[in-house]
This record gives sequence, structure tokens and C-alpha cells, in this order.
Amino acid sequence: MASPRYILGISCFYHDSAACLLKDGEVIAAAHEERFTRIKHDSAFPKRAIEFCLAEAGITPAQLELVGFYEKPFLKFDRILMTFLSTWPRGALTFLRIMPLWLRERLWTRSTLKKELPGYTGKIAFIEHHLSHAASAFFCSPFDESAVLTIDGVGEWTTAAWGIGRGTEIHMEEEMRFPHSLGLLYSTFTAYLGFKVNEGEYKVMGLAPYGEPKYLDKIRQIAHIHKDGSIWLDMRYFEYQHGHASFGKKFVKLFGPPPKEREKFSQHHLDVAASIQKFTEEAMVTMAEYVQQKTGLTNLCLAGGVALNCVGNSEIKNRTNFKNIFVQPAAGDAGGALGAAYYIWNTILEQPRNKNFTLPYFGSSVSNEVVEDFLKKNNIVYKKFEQDALLRESAQLLADGKVLGWMQSRSEYGPRALGHRSILADPRPEHMRNTVNLKIKFREAFRPFAPSVIAEKAHEWFEFDQESPYMLFTAQAHKDKAEQIPAVTHIDRSARLQTVRHDHEPLYHGLIAEFEKLTGIPIILNTSFNRKDEPIVETPADAYDCFMETGMDALVIHNFLILKERQ
Ligand SMILES: [Fe+2]
Repeated sequence: MASPRYILGISCFYHDSAACLLKDGEVIAAAHEERFTRIKHDSAFPKRAIEFCLAEAGITPAQLELVGFYEKPFLKFDRILMTFLSTWPRGALTFLRIMPLWLRERLWTRSTLKKELPGYTGKIAFIEHHLSHAASAFFCSPFDESAVLTIDGVGEWTTAAWGIGRGTEIHMEEEMRFPHSLGLLYSTFTAYLGFKVNEGEYKVMGLAPYGEPKYLDKIRQIAHIHKDGSIWLDMRYFEYQHGHASFGKKFVKLFGPPPKEREKFSQHHLDVAASIQKFTEEAMVTMAEYVQQKTGLTNLCLAGGVALNCVGNSEIKNRTNFKNIFVQPAAGDAGGALGAAYYIWNTILEQPRNKNFTLPYFGSSVSNEVVEDFLKKNNIVYKKFEQDALLRESAQLLADGKVLGWMQSRSEYGPRALGHRSILADPRPEHMRNTVNLKIKFREAFRPFAPSVIAEKAHEWFEFDQESPYMLFTAQAHKDKAEQIPAVTHIDRSARLQTVRHDHEPLYHGLIAEFEKLTGIPIILNTSFNRKDEPIVETPADAYDCFMETGMDALVIHNFLILKERQ
């Protein structure tokens, strides 16, 4: 028997560093560096994530056949250099700050990788940033043929691109280039509204339903959507060319001063959020429509940070002729590691596609024995249950209004908690949203939570006829249903739902089914298992710390139930 073939993909040095290991074309492990270092959006070389991936496979770097990096550093450097030169001297200070980093480390990514992978003597393939995004979506999708659309802030020069995936190949056809960027436009408004860039974008999306898109005309003064969906930005209003992902004086003159206090929004600012969200949806739909007309295809694969805008994804689903849409669950830059690895396996090595990709549970896990050992060593009071009893007990706690930390099996790859590292609660009481927001997540009260719904019952509760296993689409709850689940629906009845299938996720599906037996509602509130500004928990120790330091009532790790009142 031939020995297995291993491909390692790496993304790093911007934000959300990650590694992904393929064994004979299947993901054997993938993880964000932040989950190990506990530094949110860690952009450092993903040493720990790589160690984890290799350990999962039980191999050393010497056994890797090929290593892929998710972008081309020299091209990216070219863009940065050209931009600073063309706008000199406005970005001089930033230039002086970042140059040593480039000259010391980033330009020499090949040497860094070789140094960090002792024993590896093979080649390193540098795959273009948007091709990595495209590969991460198409090669994980169930489609033999599909249009592929990638939209983000910026890669090397490209800020959006489209192409066609067929079999084991992807051909990119057209692209939009820096500085014109839908992602950076959205990020500028993210900064204006007082959130962190590359992190707060989905908060802007969360604010939007509370406002009216009154300022679309103003946005159109500074940003124009062409017929093909590409956008043109009036760069006099933007600062990111000078290195600050921020907004300038002209921008403030047009949109008024930013919020005075962090996360205290006037109606004006809510309307600005609604306007940029609406504009983004228009651009996404126009791009997708153009790609649909050009290709004549009805399958679409989406990736890139902007594809995490689930309202935009849903608009594409509802308003274009694409019938089937696959969004890569790790649509942001972490997913580039997976895309680079798949591009090598399928396209460069011409290996057949693997169609087994379902859910991205590629992170670490520990055995029940290790969990029990941890609990005993730390004198934690717990009770062990068989699976059926665990589900019944947990569902009862939820139905009684308790907030539950829920950790099962391998952690999620990508930004969403999909029931393996989640905080769960009853979606029925209106106050649950505030309870979870203020006592547990310590975050803004406006933020909505997502519902996990049993897949086969999703249509009974939401205007939704397909699946959303990665929480990357939104849907309106039916009028008579929305009022029954106020903790997981917005004021416009929309919800960012996760559909859960029994054949994919028997345990999580079983928990929701037990909750339904008790309450008649096949839905639970699901939010990621972390506090504000912290990465999602990875280990039992992370989970226990988070549980003890917040207002959670109970914690389930594998088969063990830990009640706060007993500690
Ligand atoms: Fe990207």
C-alpha cells in the first residue's frame, strides 16, 4: 500500500493565522493560531497550529510532500511599496514602522517557513491570495462545475475576483484591484462606527437592522458600483492607502462625527450602518449577477472576508439566478491555509476531488479520560452521564432558563461556533439576549444571537428552503413564529441561522430535539464560547475558566456536567 501523502497549507502575517493539513486530499486537521496562543486574531507565524496539525497526523515536517502559503509576499510588498510611493509623504510614518517587519520577516517567508519546518526539504508553493480563497470554496463544495466569487479587503493587489471551477481546476477570469475594495470600504465604516477593523465588521452588520439606509446617496458620492459589480472609490475620502485603515476629515464632513462613546449609537449612526450594509449588499448582488450572466452557471462558491456578510450572501441567494450557493465556512484569511493546501492537491498535483467535506470540525479534541482527569485534578464537582441522559439533562437546564457552556469533540475551523464550542440558551425569553450579552459575553446589548435549528424543521420557522450549516445565511422568521423566539431574531425578524442535520451532527441535533420535546421549539440560542475580545475556547481548561469567570450556570464537556452552584 502506498504511504499517505500530506500537504500543509499556511496563512499568516496579516490576521487570523492558521494551518491546515491534508492527508490524501482530506482535511485531517486545521486550526487558527489564536485558539492556542489565546491572542485574538493572532497574525504571527502559526507555530502552534502547525504543531497541532502534524501531531494529529503523527508525522514530522520531513514527511510533508508539499507546503503551500496562501499568498505571494513579493506581490503584496509591491502593492504596499507602490502605494506608499504614490501617496508619499502622507504615509511616511506607517511606512517607516512596517518596513523593518517586511525586510526582516515577511519578504523572506520562504526562509521563515523552512526554518520553522525542520527536516522539510520540499518546495514551498505560493498561491495567490484570491486563488487560495477561491480554492477554499470550490474544492470544498459539492459542485463539479461552479462560478467562484471572492471578495475581501485586499490580497496582493486583488480585492475581488471571479472565475470558474471545473473538476480539479479553477480559472480566475476578472479581478478588481486595490485601492478600490468593497471590503476596505466596509472596514472604513467599521472604524468610523468605533469598532476594530478586521473584527468589528459583523457588528456593523448587526447594527444595520436598527437603522434606515438613509445615507445611500452619500455613500454613492464616494463609491460607485459599475455594471459588473466592481466598485470605484473616491480615494480623497479614505486613509487606508496611507496605512491607516481609517477615515479622514472629508469623510467626517460627509457623514458627521463618529460616535462619541464606544458602542453608544445615535439613530444617525444606526442609519449609517444600515446604509453601508445596504450598499454592500447592492455591490455583492451586482457582482454575483454579472458573474451568473457571464458564466451561465447556477452554482456559486463564495469566499473572502466579505462572504462572512451573511445578509449579503442571502441577498445573492434571493435575488440572483444562482440556485446553489456554497460559502466556505472559513471564508476569511484563515481559510486561505485550507485553500492553498487544496489548490496544491487538486490542481498542482492533479489529484481527484474529495467530496467528503461537510462540517469544519478540524480542531483539537481530548478524550473523556483526559477531561475526567482534568476535573479531578482541579477538584471540580461534576456528574458523568451516558449520552441520552446527558442530552435530556442539558435540554432540561436550557428549558429552565439556564445558560450552558457546551464543549464537544473537535473545535471549529472558521470564525463561527457550530455547536462544538458554543454557549447555549433558551431562545424564548426576551431577556435571554441581554442576560447572555451582559453577564456572559460582556458585550454590546444590541448584538443578536444566532439560532441553531433542526434542519428538517427550519422551513416551519423561517422563510428558508435550503441549508445553512455554517451560519452564513440569514432568513426571516415567519410572523407568528418570531414572537416565540425573540432572543434569536432581530427587530426585522431576521436571524443568522445554523441548520443542524442529524446525519452530520447527531449529538447537537439530539440536544435540540430533546429541547423541542420539552418546549415544542426545535431551536436553541447558540453563540461562540468566549468572552468579548477573546478567542473561542479550545481546551477543557479554557472552557472551565470562561465558565467560572462569567455568569454561565452550567458547563458540559463531553459527558460531564458541571453546575456553577456546586463549585
Ligand atoms: Fe483575504
